[in-house]
Amino acid sequence: MSIIFNTATSVNGFLADEDNSLQWLFDVGGEEPSLDPFLETVSVLVMGSTTYEWILEHENLLTEPEKWSVFFDARPMFVFSTRELPVPEGADVRVVNGPVERQLPAILAAAGGGDVWVQGGGDLAGQFLDARALDRIVLSVAPVFLETGAPLLPRTLLSARLHLASVERVGRFAVLGYDVKQ
Ligand SMILES: NC(=O)c1ccc[n+]([C@@H]2O[C@H](COP(=O)([O-])OP(=O)(O)OC[C@H]3O[C@@H](n4cnc5c(N)ncnc54)[C@H](OP(=O)(O)O)[C@@H]3O)[C@@H](O)[C@H]2O)c1
Repeated sequence: MSIIFNTATSVNGFLADEDNSLQWLFDVGGEEPSLDPFLETVSVLVMGSTTYEWILEHENLLTEPEKWSVFFDARPMFVFSTRELPVPEGADVRVVNGPVERQLPAILAAAGGGDVWVQGGGDLAGQFLDARALDRIVLSVAPVFLETGAPLLPRTLLSARLHLASVERVGRFAVLGYDVKQ
C-alpha cells in the first residue's frame, strides 16, 4: 500500500492557472501519459474541494451522474472541505475535514491494502507530507511555464528525502517518479 501524489504540472510547478483552468494542459496535444496502469492498484482517491468542484463542473457530473463510474469505478473518494458539497447520485464521496492524521485511519481502511491516490491540490499533498503519509510523487511535466496559479507542492522537500525512481518520456511530457523517504 502506498500513498501517491500523482499529477500533471507545468515545468515551473503549477497545477492550474490562476483561474483554476487546465486549458494550458489540454493544449499540449499529442500522446499523453496514461493513468490506466497506475489506476490498477489505486483503491481510494483523495482531493481538496477546489479539485473536486472542478471535476464536477468540467464533467457535468451532477446532471450526468451515470458518468461517475466511467471515471472512478466504485472507488471511494475522500474530499477535504470545511463546507457541505454536492455529491452526484450513487457516488461514494466522503467529505472530511481537519488534520490529515485524523482522517488517515478511515482512508487506509477504505483502501483495504490498495494504493491511495492524492490528486491534489498541492497544499493537501503537503498536508500528507507533513503527516509523514506521502510515499511517492509522480509528475507528468507539461512543456509549459505559467506566471502564477495553484502551486504543485508549497513545501520545502530536499533531495535527501527524494529518490528519483523513474524517468519516462511520453509524447511532449516528462514523467518523473520520486519515492519520498520519511
Ligand atoms: N494538473 C493536474 O493534473 C491537477 C491535479 C489536481 C488539481 N488540479 C487543479 O489544481 C487546482 C488546485 O486547487 P487548490 O490549490 O485550491 O487545492 P485543492 O486541494 O483542490 O482545494 C483546496 C481547498 O480544499 C479544502 N481543504 C484543504 N485541506 C483541508 C483540510 N485539511 N480540511 C478541510 N478542508 C480542506 C479547502 O476548501 P474549503 O474548506 O473552502 O472547501 C481548501 O481551500 C484546482 O484548480 C484543480 O482543478 C490540477
